[in-house]
Amino acid sequence: MRLKHCHNTRDFRELARRRLPSPIFHYIDGAADDETTRRRNTEAYSNCDLVPNVLRGAEHVDLSTRVMGLDLDIPLFLSPTALQCLFHHEGEMAVGKAAEQFGTLFGLSSLGTTSIEEIASTIKTPKLFQLYVHKDKGLTRNMIDRCKAANFDAMALTVDTAVGGNRERDLVTGFTIPPKLTLKSLLSFTCHPAWGLNYLSHGGFELPQLQDHVGEGTSITLSIGSYINTMLDQSMDWQAAEEIVRYWGKPLVLKGIMSVEDARRAVDIGAAAIMISNHGGRQLDGSRSPFDQLAEIVDAVGDRIDVICDGGIQRGTHVLKALSMGARACSGGRLYLYALAAAGRAGVEKALGNLCSEMERDMKLMGCKSISELNRSNLRFRPEFACHSQ
Ligand code: LAC
Repeated sequence: MRLKHCHNTRDFRELARRRLPSPIFHYIDGAADDETTRRRNTEAYSNCDLVPNVLRGAEHVDLSTRVMGLDLDIPLFLSPTALQCLFHHEGEMAVGKAAEQFGTLFGLSSLGTTSIEEIASTIKTPKLFQLYVHKDKGLTRNMIDRCKAANFDAMALTVDTAVGGNRERDLVTGFTIPPKLTLKSLLSFTCHPAWGLNYLSHGGFELPQLQDHVGEGTSITLSIGSYINTMLDQSMDWQAAEEIVRYWGKPLVLKGIMSVEDARRAVDIGAAAIMISNHGGRQLDGSRSPFDQLAEIVDAVGDRIDVICDGGIQRGTHVLKALSMGARACSGGRLYLYALAAAGRAGVEKALGNLCSEMERDMKLMGCKSISELNRSNLRFRPEFACHSQ
């Protein structure tokens, strides 16, 4: 299987599975407990059908949107994710360049493997930094200050990691940062020499946002769950979030909002946006899917804050359904991470190219020339799910 044969997320996933040592593949692919929520995130879109209109002269389609005051050419952006140089040696730079090519927002993680400054000086597309609030207040402030100095456009405050999710696949494979060879994983690393050679010849692994502050995650090995439990501030509350909104001073999105009550509080503390997200099903298994939560949140706060639907997106139609329901934009991680692992920048560009073609084709088939024409009259929930507001 080759890149040119990757037509959808499933294909990229399969290529990633073949290219990566299995602990790394399972870190990307896996989720919490029984992974029910991870599956639901995508399945939720199939409970709702599109109703197209025809004869609307939809020859040219404008996919642009504005979110957090930022103009994007497409209504889909790349959620920040950790450890990208581990998946492919081109890492965040490849993902940022691909986002730039498609005129969309690129997210860099506190646990990213490329520095804030390097991204700022190279990537011209709008940039978002994902902040994990650490117990070490100096570190948290330092990351915000670096983002200010580097002129990042927006900050995503992660609010769904009060404790590490139970990622059982990582327990089985022994996945840690940096990766450590165990007897169990040795065979898999040996069977993927190309990944190993690239990893070693490109300098291995660094966490430059954390480097001067913590040894953990850079010099000693920890699982992601232990990192969250040991290093992050589990006492974080709404007051702390509000202080960060003020200290940052630019658009801030709360990443990981699921309830109407919290969406209202996000408005109250002055957030510019919320990402309805369950962290790709990697935290609370059994949590509802972002798409299922969208209608009630949009109804409560959609006129006061930008609502972003994050999670489960694998198709252009998924984006169109979320936008019809009232989201300003959609975002996702795995939708580009498999592609990154499969083929670096070329892979991410192909994945985004596929999704853009789908969105454009689907808009034409829906009879819509711009995303402002999408609305709930285009949607019908299947009878068994009809309790949703429409
Ligand atoms: C994860 C965190 C690090 O889901 O975002 O692995």
